Amino acid sequence: MKILILGADGYLGWPTCMYFSSRKHKVIGIDNYFRRTASMELDCEALIPAPNLLQRVKLWKDTSGNKMNIHIGDITDYAFLLSIFKEYNPDVVVHYAEQPSAPYSMINREKAAFTLQNNLMTTLNVIYAVKETNPECHIIKLGTMGEYGTPNIDIEEGWLEIEHKGRKDKFLFPRQTGSLYHTTKIQDTDMLWFYVRTWGLRVTDLMQGPVYGLSTDESDMDSRLMPHFHYDEIFGTVLNRFIVQAVAEYPLTVYGKGNQTRGFLNLKDTMQCVYLSAEQPAEHKQLRIFNQLTEAFSVNQLAEKVKKIGDKLGYNVAVNSVKNPRIEKEDHYYNIHYTGLLELGLQPHFLTDDVLEEIFKVVDKYKDRINRSAFLKGIKWT
Ligand SMILES: NC(=O)c1ccc[n+]([C@@H]2O[C@H](COP(=O)([O-])OP(=O)(O)OC[C@H]3O[C@@H](n4cnc5c(N)ncnc54)[C@H](O)[C@@H]3O)[C@@H](O)[C@H]2O)c1
Repeated sequence: MKILILGADGYLGWPTCMYFSSRKHKVIGIDNYFRRTASMELDCEALIPAPNLLQRVKLWKDTSGNKMNIHIGDITDYAFLLSIFKEYNPDVVVHYAEQPSAPYSMINREKAAFTLQNNLMTTLNVIYAVKETNPECHIIKLGTMGEYGTPNIDIEEGWLEIEHKGRKDKFLFPRQTGSLYHTTKIQDTDMLWFYVRTWGLRVTDLMQGPVYGLSTDESDMDSRLMPHFHYDEIFGTVLNRFIVQAVAEYPLTVYGKGNQTRGFLNLKDTMQCVYLSAEQPAEHKQLRIFNQLTEAFSVNQLAEKVKKIGDKLGYNVAVNSVKNPRIEKEDHYYNIHYTGLLELGLQPHFLTDDVLEEIFKVVDKYKDRINRSAFLKGIKWT
């Protein structure tokens, strides 16, 4: 495959580039360093220092012998994106290149406007570039489980058949989310569905849960190949955040009652899910939606797991309930269906004590770099 990865410098993008490259596919990557500049601006940089993307690619070539083609540029710039599509004519495009943080989108009007503009415009540009250069190209788009919110009914895999006044039809599963960022993901899904119906594109939209971890077979080859690892309130996902808090002996910041439940997955499984989706593409005129998670946990369950391993390793781990800065249900029903990726061949890596211990050990090596002021930045929904 010739695969174009948008957001190639990111937490998920960089390991994905290496994953496809090590399997001998031709990888083309794009990034505009938004994540690096935003985290510098907000004083919440990643825990592990990462060489820039061009240096990463050189390191990868030296380590694995495999080449990648990298371009630094902005996907909201249509002329730039189109030139890349024309130069390489990819078979698959993986679209990670969005502003990925709910708290960031809630900071103020300027950040809200950026999130809307960046996320919707990148998706629109990908759709147009595919239509203009090769409508056969399979679009793999990262959505989020957060699109569904926490409805009081089971969450199906993307679609819901509804019977109303004796007639039936199938619709996108109803979505009521909890941040502007998540709202842009819903808007992306609606936009993709519109162009699938109108232009017959082939799209896979992955409703992914929060990802944890930093190890993949490729990143384990050299510590300089590790992905960005954020632990701050803005860009850090909850389990990564708790582990770094435990190592810093900072009380784990459970929001409100901590009964909020979500579906999670290991970084290694994100790689598998994207790879399996690329190898077994959606059909023409198909918007294929998968719920991308392997296990569900409440925030309290995650805090307990982290405390157990942290205490075992000799850290003094306290758990603290802080006033919830978000508007979200703290007690709710949560039952998700997620069989599609398992049927494609996903072999899940579950959250075992050993997996947690491994992440603790890596984090401990960088504990001098922990910036405690990044754990709580005071971003509120109201
Ligand atoms: N990490 C998770 O737990 C998670 C969960 C669900 C969904 N997602 C989604 O997966 C995708 C990747 O997430 P991530 O955690 O790797 O985020 P990330 O911020 O680390 O990666 C996104 C990358 O895209 C780049 N980017 C953003 N806008 C761009 C633009 N206009 N032009 C070029 N590059 C641009 C950023 O610089 C960054 O390197 C995002 O769309 C996110 O919403 C992530």
